[in-house]
Amino acid sequence: MITLNGRRVKKTVEPELGYTILDMALKHEVDWGFSCVRGTCSRCRCLVSEGLDQLNAPTDEELDNLEPEEFEEGYRLGCQAKLKQAGTVVVTHKPYF
Ligand code: FES
Repeated sequence: MITLNGRRVKKTVEPELGYTILDMALKHEVDWGFSCVRGTCSRCRCLVSEGLDQLNAPTDEELDNLEPEEFEEGYRLGCQAKLKQAGTVVVTHKPYF
């Protein structure tokens, strides 16, 4: 299952492989900020507190826009992080502002 924690809405839903975290949030109407959907604005930034292994490796866009320390702490960009295998994922929307 994937738990999506938006600012107000929190939902735990069935993961769909190949979907990004942002795709899942939009599909399930979890309030999740975004703008570019290309990995450049960082508005979809989120903290993965469980299940990083179930996601793809960071994309080039994420590597350009997030600091190494952010990856170590579990931050990803919601429009870039895709579900690659089934398992438990817990992710919270954490934009910079
Ligand atoms: S929506 Fe802009 S980086 Fe994800």
